[in-house]
Amino acid sequence: MHITIIGTGYVGLVTGACFAEMGHSVMCLDVDITKIERLKKGEIPIYEPGLEELVKRNSLSHRLQFTTDYQKAINFGKVCFIAVPTPSQENGSCNTSYVESVASHIGRTMEEKRIIVNKSTVPVGTAALVTKIIQHELTKRKSTIPFEVISNPEFLKEGAAVQDCLKPDRIIIGANCPKAADVLREIYSPFTVSHDKILIMDTLSAEMTKYAANAMLATRISFMNEISEICKCVGANVNEVRKGIGSDSRIGYSFLYPGIGYGGSCFPKDIRALIAKAKEAGCEPKLLSAVDEVNVRQKKILGMKIRRYFSKLGGVKSKTIAVWGLSFKPDTDDLREAPSLIFIDELLKEGAKLRLYDPVAMPNARKIFKNHPSISWCEDEFDAAKDADAIALLTEWKQFRLVNFQSVKRQMKGIAFFDGRNQYKPAEMRTRGFDYISIGVPDQVQELV
Ligand SMILES: NC(=O)c1ccc[n+]([C@@H]2O[C@H](COP(=O)([O-])OP(=O)(O)OC[C@H]3O[C@@H](n4cnc5c(N)ncnc54)[C@H](O)[C@@H]3O)[C@@H](O)[C@H]2O)c1
Repeated sequence: MHITIIGTGYVGLVTGACFAEMGHSVMCLDVDITKIERLKKGEIPIYEPGLEELVKRNSLSHRLQFTTDYQKAINFGKVCFIAVPTPSQENGSCNTSYVESVASHIGRTMEEKRIIVNKSTVPVGTAALVTKIIQHELTKRKSTIPFEVISNPEFLKEGAAVQDCLKPDRIIIGANCPKAADVLREIYSPFTVSHDKILIMDTLSAEMTKYAANAMLATRISFMNEISEICKCVGANVNEVRKGIGSDSRIGYSFLYPGIGYGGSCFPKDIRALIAKAKEAGCEPKLLSAVDEVNVRQKKILGMKIRRYFSKLGGVKSKTIAVWGLSFKPDTDDLREAPSLIFIDELLKEGAKLRLYDPVAMPNARKIFKNHPSISWCEDEFDAAKDADAIALLTEWKQFRLVNFQSVKRQMKGIAFFDGRNQYKPAEMRTRGFDYISIGVPDQVQELV
């Protein structure tokens, strides 16, 4: 089938490439001319495992094309997917202006019947809003071209986006028209060969499902972060508690890791958008507000631990801190709402010198912190550790799991290791000669401070 994807970012590009891989003819549109030019040359603008190969292979076979021309794109695909940003507004509510702008473009340019499928995460009721905008533009043109709007929220995870897209757990289709839903079934049929994963519901429920899923996952993270704080205060070890509760089949092991808070382009904004939507609808979402508050606090926790540790050693000012990992999670270069941004900002304000390293997010980090005089951009984790008073692990990249700590320690001036992701065994780190401070676990310090 001919498919158009509007918005060629993490979701749009991955979805477009996966549809092409399954044999569809796909045209990806973006307003970012540089991005489209790079894609036409076979350059991938984001880091996502497996994506480059997929894009190159399908571009060569002409099943995947890129354009900035709206007219051409809208009239290419019988089905047009929207995958544009839906960022937070000042008050936390969702900014749907990008989606609305796409809807206007579609209404102004479509020449034949179209099925519009919204993949962006949008507040409940947006499918109806998109319908209204397209209808308004068509009426202005005195056109009666038929169209349908479907909600098809996306659940892929950055870092595993290609795999998630090729093998989705479920495909949610919110459609008020059964015929349009059948077209979506056909598009997704190559993804559901082993068993049917398609759930068809009304558009409002589909839009709500996406927010509810993210809210549930964020709640587990904030819950564990709260438990880790309590563990710390009462002398328990959250690593043991995590295993103890995860073994209960009603709870399970996933999403139970304490850390320095959730980040990324989805959870923070989606929780706030759901809170805003709930309030607008007259509900008081107390639990969700607490989930967000705990997360805001948690993003500052490692910085607080560093400040406390150095308070008896002359303060953080002029101390050198090596930072391992910058992206909001491993296997992505995405820094949107990453805990590292708050951590770095706060330490810079206190006069610390930072030696930063991330396996793939350095170019994005440089765009944010530019040539800050107190930041050194490092080659690897060993380089970052050079003359450092402390190391802070912020992202649990696999390459940090089995580090040669003897050589790391030889590079350092100090002995402090702040583990924001509980990646190491506290007793082993102490034996290696580190003051090891992690999340929700009794500190392992050579000399109590
Ligand atoms: N990133 C994720 O992991 C993820 C997962 C599930 C859902 N989502 C949702 O999917 C949507 C897109 O997220 P993303 O991470 O892919 O965003 P992104 O910022 O990576 O990509 C969006 C793209 O849309 C383009 N764009 C903006 N306005 C446009 C317009 N009017 N016409 C055409 N293109 C336009 C931008 O230039 C950009 O390339 C959001 O609603 C997000 O919440 C994201």
